[in-house]
Amino acid sequence: MNVLFKNIKSLIQVREAGVKYLSGEEMSVLPTIEDAYLVVEDGKIDSFGKMESCPEDYKGDVVDATGKMILPAWCDSHTHLVYAGHREGEFIDRINGLSYEEIAQRGGGIVNSALRLADTSEEDLYQQSKVRLEQVIKMGTGSIEIKSGYGLTLEGELKMLRVIKRLEEEFLIPIKATFLGAHALPVNYKNDKAGYVKMLIEVMVPAVAKQGVAEYIDVFCEEGYFSTDDTAAILEAGLQYGLGPKIHVNQFNAIGGVKVGVDYNARSVDHLEEMRQEDIQVLKGGQTMPVALPGCSHFLSIPYTPARQMIDAGLPLALASDYNPGSAPSGNMNFIVSTACVKMKMTPEEAINAATINGAYAMGLEEEVGSVTIGKRANLILTSKIPSYGFLPYSFGENHIDKVFINGIEQ
Ligand code: NIG
Ligand code: FE
Repeated sequence: MNVLFKNIKSLIQVREAGVKYLSGEEMSVLPTIEDAYLVVEDGKIDSFGKMESCPEDYKGDVVDATGKMILPAWCDSHTHLVYAGHREGEFIDRINGLSYEEIAQRGGGIVNSALRLADTSEEDLYQQSKVRLEQVIKMGTGSIEIKSGYGLTLEGELKMLRVIKRLEEEFLIPIKATFLGAHALPVNYKNDKAGYVKMLIEVMVPAVAKQGVAEYIDVFCEEGYFSTDDTAAILEAGLQYGLGPKIHVNQFNAIGGVKVGVDYNARSVDHLEEMRQEDIQVLKGGQTMPVALPGCSHFLSIPYTPARQMIDAGLPLALASDYNPGSAPSGNMNFIVSTACVKMKMTPEEAINAATINGAYAMGLEEEVGSVTIGKRANLILTSKIPSYGFLPYSFGENHIDKVFINGIEQ
């Protein structure tokens, strides 16, 4: 797809090739060209610059972006977008006073979604998930990671991963698949965690790897779910089969899982609502991206990841939606960016960096998406007429996206 965008009020997140992610003070800078043009050739960013050097007599489509801004589409590095049914009953239980943990202990939570998934055909699961993916793309998501983890049996997990693969084949946006068999204990292993972990390591991991349906492996490292030792053993097994580590950690309790993630050179450690000084220290100097999920903090009314403390300590930070039926039933990255500013005291520059280039890194897509860089995919948001990019998080809950382009194609 070839297209020229001209008269762009601000072209946001312009980077040279080779920027992997941004840390600490670097996150406060969002390089922008005012009054710009941008050319897309064959779905990739081909050139851009000030309007005075805009190509004349351009042969492809021309979009006049007067008064509007262009930024990279959101990079949502943590979702559970493939699921069956909904859990609004649990939402009402929480309004009435039960906690997420109490609901899980009563057989709700992840296990509830696993029961629904077992009763849903692969085709139906695909159709439900496809609708959600279409919706998040319309809201500006241009690359995404999707986890399994509601199967909790070999067949159920493979069913989810095949659905993710099918989405990958049928949609233009890059999708990364993560195997999350260690999300919760299935009912038939309720009192046999060691047995489930053994089966996961000896049966599920090799089967998932053999079928080539996942790039990453994830574990819910948390009290009442999987311990740091379980996490280490599962990540080790994943690594042996070529699955890169990414973990859920420090959501409710800090139990030392961040160190396990860093020791295994995890691509990312996600949640981090409960952070101790030692968790921040251990992330310093590593290649592991910490990922905050403010939609989950909002929805469960739990603490927000201490972004200020982490960025001020020199760490990088990414933002993702955690889109799932239990703790974050929304994949709207505009809300995530706004909430990060309002509740986590991130500046608009930091939040946009966290939801683009740092999110791309958190799923291993930093060479393909996440910035306006020559050669990267033209996965772009064209805003409506807005006064400044700070207006995006400021006017929370409002829609300021005019159009979304994936590989230069309007969605
Ligand atoms: O990231 N914490 C673990 N997993 C999900 C929630 C899953 C669910 O409740 O269905 C999360 O918050
Ligand atoms: Fe999650």
